[in-house]
Amino acid sequence: MIPIHVLNGPNLNLLGTREPGIYGRATLGDIERDLRSQAQGLGVTLDFHQTNHEGELVGLIQDAGAAGAGVLINAAAYTHTSVALRDAISGSGVVAVEVHLSNVHAREAFRHVSLIAPVCAGVICGFGPDSYALGLAALAQLLRAAPASHD
Ligand code: DQA
Repeated sequence: MIPIHVLNGPNLNLLGTREPGIYGRATLGDIERDLRSQAQGLGVTLDFHQTNHEGELVGLIQDAGAAGAGVLINAAAYTHTSVALRDAISGSGVVAVEVHLSNVHAREAFRHVSLIAPVCAGVICGFGPDSYALGLAALAQLLRAAPASHD
C-alpha cells in the first residue's frame, strides 16, 4: 500500500458553510469520506489533516517526508504567501500534488500566484471536490511509477 498524506490549510474546516457560491456545499468530512472510498481502489492509505496554522503544516509536510508518503495538499491561502511551505516540500523531498476547489486563475490576481506550485509535481484546480479525487488519482499513479522506500 502506498501512503498518502492529505493536508488541508486554513479555513477549509469551514467548508460547507464558507462562501458556498465559490466552494460549494460539501464539507471537508464529505471530501475525506469520498477520498477514503476512492483510496481503497487505488491501493493507497490516507492520513487526513486540516490545520489553520502555517507552522503545523510545515511539520505535517516534514512528517510525510519522514514516512516516505506522498502529499496531496490544499494549502488554501498559504498557497499564495508561504515560502516556509515551499521550502518544506522541497526540503523534505516529498512528491506533492497541489489542489484547489476553486479555479484560482479565474479569481483575484493575488490567487494567480502559487509559491508551492514550482515544487509540486502538478496542480489541479477548479473542479470542486473532484479536484481532490483527480489529484489523488494522479499522485497514486506517480508514486506507483516511481516507487519510494515504502514499497
Ligand atoms: C482555495 C483557494 C485559495 O485561494 C483560498 O485562499 C482558499 C481555498 C481553494 O481550494 O479553492 O482558502 O485553496
